[in-house]
Formats: sequence, C-alpha cells, structure tokens
Amino acid sequence: MADPAALDSFDPANVPNHIAIIMDGNGRWATAQGLPRTEGHKRGEDALFEAVEGCLAAGVSWMTVYAFSTENWRRPKDEVKFLLNYSRGLLRRRRDELNDRGVRIRFVGRRDWRVPNGVLNEMDKAESLTRHNDKMTLVIAFNYGGRAEIVDAVRAMVDEGLKGKQITEKAIARHLYDPEMPDPELMIRTSGESRTSNYLMWQLAYSEMIFADVLWPDFTREHIYGAIAEYQRRERRFGGV
Ligand code: IPE
Ligand code: IPE
Ligand code: MG
Repeated sequence: MADPAALDSFDPANVPNHIAIIMDGNGRWATAQGLPRTEGHKRGEDALFEAVEGCLAAGVSWMTVYAFSTENWRRPKDEVKFLLNYSRGLLRRRRDELNDRGVRIRFVGRRDWRVPNGVLNEMDKAESLTRHNDKMTLVIAFNYGGRAEIVDAVRAMVDEGLKGKQITEKAIARHLYDPEMPDPELMIRTSGESRTSNYLMWQLAYSEMIFADVLWPDFTREHIYGAIAEYQRRERRFGGV
C-alpha cells in the first residue's frame, strides 16, 4: 500500500489540505547498514526535505511532522542529547532554505524545562523568520504528546474560568497548541508500525491512515505522491452512509 508514485498519479483538485507524518525507522535503517542509530537520524533530514518538496509540489497547505515525542525522553541519554543538538542544528542549517521556499514554520509541543534554551531560541527564530510565508505551513511536533496537549488545553480552560457547559469540542480545539491548525485528512507513518504513538490524538479522529513499510531515511517525494493517490482511493464516510 502507498507505493511510490508519480506526481501525475493523483487528482490535483482533491489533494489533502493537511498531511501529518510520523517519521519512524531511523534507528532500524542505521542498524541495517551497520551504523550507529544516530546516523539514521542524520539521514532522516534529507527524507524530511524530500517530504517537504513532495507536499509543495502536490499543493498541500499544511504538513505536520513528529520530530520528538514526550515519550522519547525514555531513550538512552546520549541519543536524547544527540536528537536535541541535531534538531537545533537542523533549524539553523535549513531555516533560510525553508524561508526561500515560502514555508511558514510552526511548533507544537510542550516548551518545558527539559527542552534546552538553545533549541527554544532556534524554534523562536525559525517561527519569526517565516511567519509571513503562505505557500505551506510546516508544523514540527517537538516534545509533543497528544495526551499532554489535551491536558494542557483543559488546564488553560480551567485557568480561564470556563464553566462545564462551556467546555465544547470547539472550545477544546481552540485551546490546542496551534488553534489554526486544521485536522489532517491524511496521516502517514513509515517503518511498518501500525500505531499512532500519542500523535495528534484529537486531530486524527477522522483522518485516513497509511502505514508504509519504508524506513524514514528511504522516504522520497514519490512516497508522498503514492500516499495521496491511495488517499484518493479511500471512501471517507464520517459516520454517515
Ligand atoms: C524515528 O526513528 C525518529 C525519532 C523517534 C526521533 P526511530 O529512532 O524511532 O527509529 P526506530 O523506530 O528505532 O527504527
Ligand atoms: C514516534 O516514534 C515518535 C516520533 C517519530 C518522533 P517512536 O519510535 O518513538 O514510537 P514507538 O516507540 O515505536 O511507539
Ligand atoms: Mg521508532
């Protein structure tokens, strides 16, 4: 399912507005090459830019990628440290390129004490540099957990003094990390794992899901095209008939 395909393999008039991606399989890719896991994360950078180019070419307006989950702190200290440093470097290296491509960068996730200031500063810089871009929004989920996001939304509503009756689906959606972010029509996870791992729990309620076997470092823009073609073959019913 969702084999790589060409740009003309789907109907350009029915492209998902928002594609969410779980970039998974870096460690296994590296292990299979006899390399340390961190080499897989490094190679994942090119795959991320392939995915960005694919979404831009297809005319996708929003793209969200899972870069670091609230559960990823459980990894060995060295790997966590590498991922934090690598993310900071990636933003520094690539923000001008993304800016030139007309991409607006946003972040979702908890900005808590565990995220080093150096990373937070790069996040702020990337957001403010690109804030007026309108070709596509790239949302990076960093120190992100779907349950944490819902907890944070509920806390914010309680702090604002909302009454029980005022807590509606709309109110919760308005208090999520990025209230402007539309629900993804399509979620893609690589590496053959068929789970959501605490990603966008609220927003994925009715998304089409594609679980592809390709490991993230091998992901190309053609995988985006193939996933869109597969999405267009699905029938979305939203509980109706
Ligand atoms: C995804 O690849 C990257 C992050 C979670 C940061 P993994 O590191 O999870 O790779 P596998 O799943 O162990 O192969
Ligand atoms: C999900 O992948 C998180 C990211 C891709 C950032 P994981 O590799 O952490 O998820 P599990 O542990 O397989 O559920
Ligand atoms: Mg993984």
